[in-house]
Amino acid sequence: MGLKTWYEANIMPRMITCACSQGQVMKRRAAVVPLARGDVFELGCGGGINHAFYDPSAITSYAGIDPHEGLLDGARAAAQEKGWTADLRAARGEAIPFADRSFDCVVCTFTLCSVDDPGQVLAELSRILKPGGQALFLEHGRAPDRGVRGWQERIEPVWKHLAGGCHLTRPIGAAWQAAGFAVETLGEGYTPKAPRFAGWMEWGVARKPL
Ligand SMILES: C[S@@+](CC[C@H](N)C(=O)[O-])C[C@H]1O[C@@H](n2cnc3c(N)ncnc32)[C@H](O)[C@@H]1O
Repeated sequence: MGLKTWYEANIMPRMITCACSQGQVMKRRAAVVPLARGDVFELGCGGGINHAFYDPSAITSYAGIDPHEGLLDGARAAAQEKGWTADLRAARGEAIPFADRSFDCVVCTFTLCSVDDPGQVLAELSRILKPGGQALFLEHGRAPDRGVRGWQERIEPVWKHLAGGCHLTRPIGAAWQAAGFAVETLGEGYTPKAPRFAGWMEWGVARKPL
């Protein structure tokens, strides 16, 4: 096993899990994930960190994808612990293996930064959502301040190799809007105690038109 493969299999998932489970981040999850309703699809569900935040009484079914098989095993175990029947598949958001108009709700947390083609992924999320369905998003990305953006642009070329393909400069709410969703912002701001270049977050609801 080469150093890069070893790093990606052993170190990188732990680093990401650690960064994505710090207190302020978990607080944001608690503001977004419990809003999920009906038939729910989660993009890039990773090891199932969001499972603790769903309101089981509001959910009729749960499905998710992630390309990382090792992380999916964790998500399957987390679902089993909750007694959920979860349809969790190894796949990428650029080609989601579910039929058109299958879901009432999409959950997308800290994943659009890492996909290869955000425009294609958003088109896929729109395809699998029912008309009027909602996508709940919580992402870090492109900061509004020019100085911070400059650092994001300088750091990103190295960062994305260390952090599993994570990009720092991607727009968040604006990307959902550009993909045809009506966006209601629930919150935005820098994450306390996080470096500003990685700490700008936006969260909200993106609705697919009827
Ligand atoms: C920073 S982690 C976030 C995991 C989880 N969503 C969370 O909130 O903690 C990014 C996730 O996106 C997944 N990912 C990377 N490329 C992807 C793609 N093309 N389609 C779907 N998921 C992808 C990774 O395997 C990883 O689980």
